[in-house]
Amino acid sequence: MIPAIRGTHDILPAEVERWQRVESVSRRLFERYGYAEVRTPIIEREELFAKGTGETTDIVQKEMYAFTDKGGERITLRPEATPSLVRAFVEHNLEQAMATAKLYLFGPMFRYERPQKGRYRQFHQLDVEVFGVSDPAVDAEVIDLAWALVTELGIPGPELVINSVGCPVCRPAFGEALVASLGSDVSRLCADCQRRAATNPLRIFDCKVPEDQALIDALPHSVDYLCEACRVHFASVERHLDMYGIPYRVSHRLVRGLDYYTRTTFEIMGGNLGAQNAILGGGRYDGLVKRLGGPDRVGIGFAAGIERLVLAMPADQERRDRLPLFVAAMGEAARESALALLRDLRRAGLEAHMEYEGRSIKSQMKRADRLHAAYALILGDEELAVDAVAVKNMATGEQIRAPRAGIIDHCRALAAGWRE
Ligand code: HAM
Repeated sequence: MIPAIRGTHDILPAEVERWQRVESVSRRLFERYGYAEVRTPIIEREELFAKGTGETTDIVQKEMYAFTDKGGERITLRPEATPSLVRAFVEHNLEQAMATAKLYLFGPMFRYERPQKGRYRQFHQLDVEVFGVSDPAVDAEVIDLAWALVTELGIPGPELVINSVGCPVCRPAFGEALVASLGSDVSRLCADCQRRAATNPLRIFDCKVPEDQALIDALPHSVDYLCEACRVHFASVERHLDMYGIPYRVSHRLVRGLDYYTRTTFEIMGGNLGAQNAILGGGRYDGLVKRLGGPDRVGIGFAAGIERLVLAMPADQERRDRLPLFVAAMGEAARESALALLRDLRRAGLEAHMEYEGRSIKSQMKRADRLHAAYALILGDEELAVDAVAVKNMATGEQIRAPRAGIIDHCRALAAGWRE
């Protein structure tokens, strides 16, 4: 056997209904908030992420699946969707094509990380982005959408954390304050942090090395170094969240691991996920569109890890709106009528199963149980004689006889009642 690559995983039938539920709930939600779906290629030019995600990020420095293709071009399997969506926004001038450029995307992402529960090398994100609106009301709207997603999926114990990382006006002073505050202690930090202190001091907050944490916790807070415009913006985001009644905590450590963020950053944790408990994360990136060759447009968005949503969701929600029916046939004569009934049920939009191998009625009922059938529709010589179908409720064992002519309507009514 040739096994799957480490850090990748198959999504098997037992799990796929949960994925479909995440996709359908989020799709409905995104459309309600006015987002349109975009699908971009999985491969992009390496420089899109070097420039977009940022040269000083762990993603670009350590985690990219990058290679030279047969034409000599440097290609990357996308590690995140934001630079791709910015590229599409610019390349297709979506600003002209759409009233407000509000986009969403589902798809696989690739990062060469150390695999563990909730962390994979190929994982899947759902991602939303809004371009061209700087009003703090849109920051709050995007956070509200993220919150609605997590609550509609029933994820227990969600916690929203927010921060503001300032802008190119106030960030340099904050970086200097970090370095000054560390002073000679910088040599006690890990090698990565020492490098970060020299290249991009904000990245020190991404450090996971346990010995470094006490020093990092004592560092200055970005919200205390915001310029007037950023301070007013952040206060307004908080006011809007209060107005929506969304609970949140401000954490000075939430700088997020990507270089493009300006002003608002946020994450939602929860769902008893253990170490990898960030279900989703995002923020504002006001200089990115221009940096990637587009017009000077602001942007904000977030991405959720679909694996993490699926892990954090409560069990068995996904079966709610299915009504599997099982058609059973006793005897050769009944088999043909049963096949016709099976086809009619499916044509009528109902989920129906049958056992083809001509086993005993007992083993057919066992199969119905394994399929979690709600009802079995049984046809035997007796039923054929009176042009009827026996309808057995698999949960209660109760059985009635219904006329064959009205059986489709009867099953439709059962399905409608099931969904209520
Ligand atoms: P990110 O925080 O790198 O942000 O990833 C977003 C989410 O993707 C995480 O919260 C997590 O749920 C999931 N995720 C990340 N890495 C892995 C992994 N190795 N395995 C499983 N799940 C993972 C971004 O990607 C930004 N593009 C978000 C954004 C959109 N900011 C603005 N717009």
